[in-house]
Amino acid sequence: MTTDLLTNAPEVEAPVFPPRPPRQGRPTPHISSMDEYKKMYEQSIADPATFFGKMAQDLLTWFKPFGKVTFGSFKEGNVSWFLDGQVNACYNCVDRHALANPDKIAIIWEADEPNQHVSISYGTVLAEVSRLANVLKKYGVRKGDTVAIYMPMVPEAVYAMLACARIGAVHSVVFAGFSADALRDRMLDAKCKILITADQGKRGGKTIQLKKIADEALAECPSVHTVIVFQRTGDAAVPFHPPRDVWWHDETMNQRPYCPCEPMNSEDPLFMLYTSGSTGKPKGVLHTTAGYLLGVTATTKYIFDLHEDDVHGCMADVGWITGHSYIVYGPLANGVTTILFESIPTYPNAGRYWELVDKHKVTSFYTAPTAIRALRRLGDEHLQPYNLDTLRVLGSVGEPINPEAWMWYYKVVGRERCAIVDTYWQTETGSIIITPLPGATPSKPGSATLPFFGVDVAVLDPQTGKELVGTGVTGVLAVRSSFPSIARSIYDNHERYMDTYLKPYIGYYFTGDGVTRDKDGYYWIRGRVELDVINVSGHRMSTAEIESALVQHAACAEAAVVGIPDELTGQAIVCFCTLKTHTAPQATDQTLLAALTSQVRSHIGPFATPKRIVVTPDLPKTRSGKIMRRILRKVAAGDVGEEDVLNEDVLRLKLGDLTTLADPGVVAALVKRVATSQ
Ligand code: WT7
Repeated sequence: MTTDLLTNAPEVEAPVFPPRPPRQGRPTPHISSMDEYKKMYEQSIADPATFFGKMAQDLLTWFKPFGKVTFGSFKEGNVSWFLDGQVNACYNCVDRHALANPDKIAIIWEADEPNQHVSISYGTVLAEVSRLANVLKKYGVRKGDTVAIYMPMVPEAVYAMLACARIGAVHSVVFAGFSADALRDRMLDAKCKILITADQGKRGGKTIQLKKIADEALAECPSVHTVIVFQRTGDAAVPFHPPRDVWWHDETMNQRPYCPCEPMNSEDPLFMLYTSGSTGKPKGVLHTTAGYLLGVTATTKYIFDLHEDDVHGCMADVGWITGHSYIVYGPLANGVTTILFESIPTYPNAGRYWELVDKHKVTSFYTAPTAIRALRRLGDEHLQPYNLDTLRVLGSVGEPINPEAWMWYYKVVGRERCAIVDTYWQTETGSIIITPLPGATPSKPGSATLPFFGVDVAVLDPQTGKELVGTGVTGVLAVRSSFPSIARSIYDNHERYMDTYLKPYIGYYFTGDGVTRDKDGYYWIRGRVELDVINVSGHRMSTAEIESALVQHAACAEAAVVGIPDELTGQAIVCFCTLKTHTAPQATDQTLLAALTSQVRSHIGPFATPKRIVVTPDLPKTRSGKIMRRILRKVAAGDVGEEDVLNEDVLRLKLGDLTTLADPGVVAALVKRVATSQ
């Protein structure tokens, strides 16, 4: 593990923004002082069983009460919560609200075209979810089976997730931007027998050929016997292969709009979601029912400070964990209205978010720093036409938010009246773990501030694994003891779960992120410490995955991929490739580069498009043949110029020790190649 990121922790002297007092007519925040936060936090750490036992009774509806609140440890890898309780996530997100108030709006679907939106009541959600649950049962889906979902951002994507939860099937949502290969790998790994997808998707005015891509993936997934296809566009040219393929509308029409909920054990799996780690093979992070549900219910309530009539607008996609937790499960469990946004922030213009906030009277809004930076760059005039007065909480997630973007969010979007919550968490944590609370925490732009209830944070020395105590320390971020929503395993690979998260520092959950604890005890996330995991626009991917895509191209001999800092996307992908000289001699550089790019796009998905591909005669390697990515990263980032290679001392200063390089001449050639290629 390299500690590059940890040695240059920037100054953490930052301005402090105290929480804004509630405006006239707005609700008093659930947690309204630092004393209250501190008292609750201390209780949650000192006696998690009492704290979360009570919270689980208050916030969730149980079919059968749980026994022991918490059992197991990070050391043993057997974490479990609310043992022997019976609960159903769908019941908590839908039924209990539908029974009390069937007309209350659960989902506002804002379609790709700005003049189209649909409001859907809790009663309708119950009926639609039930119909689909009955269809799933008809096709043999039973408790514990895995169901793949590859859907655009339509209400039916939410119904599909909830229908699985209702009957105890484990959903595996694959983001609709993933390629056929990626979908295939995920369906095979999860042993799915059913896929729920759509004919096409719409996004930013473009059409995405979902069914066509799914068909390609299905060609190599013989175990999938049924494909339920939702008609988003109704394009007649979409391929359809009965009897395997069935239409969503035909099937649901014939089913009864009620289906009983399967009582699930607290620790039964609710879903898996694939994420990237340091090897090429993505891992199916496994979340269980009660702990996950409590984690997202509590964090959504306290961090977005949700009250009865609120409208929560999370701009993520349901294909990522942010969508699972803060579009679907968290807001619906709280019985508020959640926005499902099919489009992109710049379609048809850069005012789209703000039009949506105005039109639907959004009270809490949640997006990623990359979107905030892009919109800031496009100019404040896009906000002018809209009334953003309903907003109280503005959230950020996915990567560190730079102070400039934070200030813009605070001043221009929030008009200095909203709380900014920079929320730190991961697919694995299931819910937010470090964050300000709107009514309590003084904020510092760029800091995720303080841990949420029950999250016992530690900063470790990356080399010795010893805890760095006190303030003003920088190390790796770990968690000392389990909290309800932490992932329990990796699907079918518990050993990898142990090796990745629990064995690096025995007794701790290892996040993989670097962190500074400043003089006030505030946390500043520094990004991933393993440099083979990169974060582009808040999407986590592994360099190994991209390398493996590149070397599958006939002309590519070897590939090395690095992440470099990027003003807009946080990090950007740069690929270095060497060629098999005997292949494709006629390929001009341009066509080759385009082919390599499309190789990555078709193997992973368009969101993994490299910013740059450099074809180079050689890669810098150690004598034992290991690629020195440290050098590539600095060269790719432009830290070394052509004049620097002339001076050994300068080069050593900029690139560090080069004596382990098998061929020191490689560096000069590489720098030249980067300088001259485009
Ligand atoms: C990684 C997790 C959790 C939803 C989105 C991404 C980075 C996430 C923050 C933040 C600094 C952040 C971390 C983390 N990250 N939120 N507020 N400040 N970094 O989920 O794909 O599981 O990625 O995203 O590096 O480990 P994910």
